[in-house]
Parts: sequence; structure tokens; C-alpha cells
Amino acid sequence: MRELGFMTEQDFIPNPVPIAIGSYREYSNKIISGSFTWSSPSNIALVKYWGKKENQIPENPSISFTLDACKTTTTLSFSKKENNDEFSFALFLDEKKQDDFKPKIETFFKRIENYLPFLKDYHFKIETSNTFPHSSGIASSASGMSALALCLMSIERSMNEVEIKDEFFNQKASFLARLGSGSACRSIEGDIIVWGSHKEIDGSSDLFGVKYPFEVHNKFKNFQDTILLVDKSEKQVNSTVGHNLMHNHPFAQERFRQANSNLSKLIDIFNTGDLKSFIEIVESEALSLHAMMMTSVPYFILMKPNTLEILNKIWGFRQQTTANICFTLDAGANVHVLYPENEAEEVLNFIQNELVAHCQNGHYICDRIGFGAKLINN
Ligand code: DP6
Repeated sequence: MRELGFMTEQDFIPNPVPIAIGSYREYSNKIISGSFTWSSPSNIALVKYWGKKENQIPENPSISFTLDACKTTTTLSFSKKENNDEFSFALFLDEKKQDDFKPKIETFFKRIENYLPFLKDYHFKIETSNTFPHSSGIASSASGMSALALCLMSIERSMNEVEIKDEFFNQKASFLARLGSGSACRSIEGDIIVWGSHKEIDGSSDLFGVKYPFEVHNKFKNFQDTILLVDKSEKQVNSTVGHNLMHNHPFAQERFRQANSNLSKLIDIFNTGDLKSFIEIVESEALSLHAMMMTSVPYFILMKPNTLEILNKIWGFRQQTTANICFTLDAGANVHVLYPENEAEEVLNFIQNELVAHCQNGHYICDRIGFGAKLINN
């Protein structure tokens, strides 16, 4: 069995010949055709990934709750083709051919070809659907790229003579997903995932997400996330462009230091169940992320007036009650409202009475912490 110690990129390249007992070699068992289906969730970062180096290496570590209801289901069918000089695939979203996503998949395949040398041997049909509406402002890249990475790993597993253990399977799936979209590497497992090396978290890596290894207080079990859909239109600035604006950003180094320090603080907070401090860190992270956008060159704002209305109402509600409710934001106008399960009734009343009015068409999604991707069939 492979020892999963300190891993490097090289460890994810299949070896043409066995190099040690139990190491995995390049496919002994080439298959003509087949298909795999995985469903993989979205995730919401508490400490945000914003800024990256070459090859999808994050500038700072991030930590997220894996979600449960918001997910992508992908069936990847593959059939051996005559030549192997180029990638060949067709992509369907909700049974409709989607050529718009092809460049993103093409880039993904180019980035991972080294690690999955069978990619040019097959024609792929990628059939995908999301539980959340396509135009909801919820990014499908985390769930979508992780589902696709898992399907590819299932193909690799089926072609490998030497058994690929689950731990390595998940680690390589996360590694591949990262090369599709950074945050996707945090969607393979649950319920709390760290991506990016952090000095106090053993095993944390820039290359893939790992399960948060320390004690988590019961207060955080089954934490709730109600996603308020404030603006469902396409974002004006996509994440990849936003990440790049962290190069030469005047506050970049301080932001990366802050993210490291916030993650350190969360270790103690998770351990003791200190919800007040949790709220401070999580909201500060969300606003710092958006502050980076507002201070980039060029600058931009992804929040909408209704985003601010919601934040103010959440602060007001917290002042009037003892509720442990807080918000976080991803790279868009939608608001994730986080709260403990035992406060769900009170918070949902507040959401329905006060916040839904600020959602586009009154739309929101009730989600909660989840436990990662699932193999649906093979
Ligand atoms: C604000 O993972 O979408 O949601 O790696 O370029 O695909 P790429 O970016 P992406 O960035 C997500 C940024 C974020 C914060 C987070 O999820 O940590």
C-alpha cells in the first residue's frame, strides 16, 4: 500500500513500470468502453481562497464546509477511439449540448493529462446536471469539476491492476479537481475540509484538500446554510480573473497573512464551540474577500444593494436576539446564512419574514453541512 506522507505532484503520475511492491503502474487493464456516475457537492469557504500562483497553487490556506443539497451529478461515458492525438469529448447540461463549457474542460484535460495518460485514448460523453438552477448565481465549478474528477478517477481505478485505496483515490480526485477549479478540491469529502498548507495543520497541502483533522464541537454538527439568491445573473468578473488581480495587489501579502491567522484562530473556536468568535472570523473573511475586489486594479464590486440590506438585517437581528446567525459571501452577490441546527426554527422565521424580500423572485435554498461526493453507479 502507498504511504500517504508528504505528497508531491510526481506521486500522482502513474508509473509505466512497478517501482516498488504495491506501487501503482500504468494501466494493465485497458478497457474499451464504460461509464461512471458521481454526484459531488458544492462547498462554502469560511476562510477564503483568493489569489493563486502557477498551476492552481493557492496563495493562502482555506477551509470550508462541504454542502449537502447543492450538488452536481455527472455521468462520464467513455469509448476507445482510433487515434490518440487530441482530446475528444461532448458535454451535455440537463440533456442539452453545451459547447460554452468546452474551453474550460479542454483546459482541464490539458492540465491533468500528465496524471491521467489515458485521456487521449478515449472519446468522452459528459452528462451533467445540478440540483440548483443553472442561472442561480451559485457557482457550479466546485461541484462540477469535482464530479468530473471523480468519474475520471473511477476510470483510472478500473484500469489499474493494483488496487487503488480509497484514501489515495480521494486525494488524487481532489488533486485533479483543483486543476479544474481551485475550490473544487474541497468538495470530494466532508464535512470540513482544509486546502493549502498551514503550519498548525499536519498533512495540509497546497495540492489537494484534506479532512480537518482536529476536534470539532457538537455545536458545529449539522450546521445550516441557507443561501439567499440575491442576483442570479452571470457575474461581471469571474473568479479566475479576480484571483489574478491579487498579483501586485497593494494589500495581498497582508491578506494572505490574515487568512493564515484566521485559520489558526478557527482551530481553537472549533474545539471550544465558541460561536461568537466563529461569527467574527467568518464575517470578517467574507468582507475581506470583497474588500480585496474593491481595492484591486481595476476595482470591482460584486455585492448588490440587496446584499447590504441582508447583512444589515442580520446584524440587527443578532443585536435583538441571542441567535448565533452569521453570513458569508462567495465571489458574487448571494448571501450564505450560517447557523446552528438547534436555532433553525427561529432563524428560518426571520429569513422568511425579513430576508426573502431581498432575494430575486424570493428564491433561496436551504442547505447544511454534508459529507462529500457519492458514487451513484458504474
Ligand atoms: C471566492 O475556485 O472558483 O469562492 O480556481 O480560478 O476556478 P478558480 O477559482 P474558484 O475560486 C473560488 C473563490 C471563492 C472563495 C473560496 O471558495 O475559497
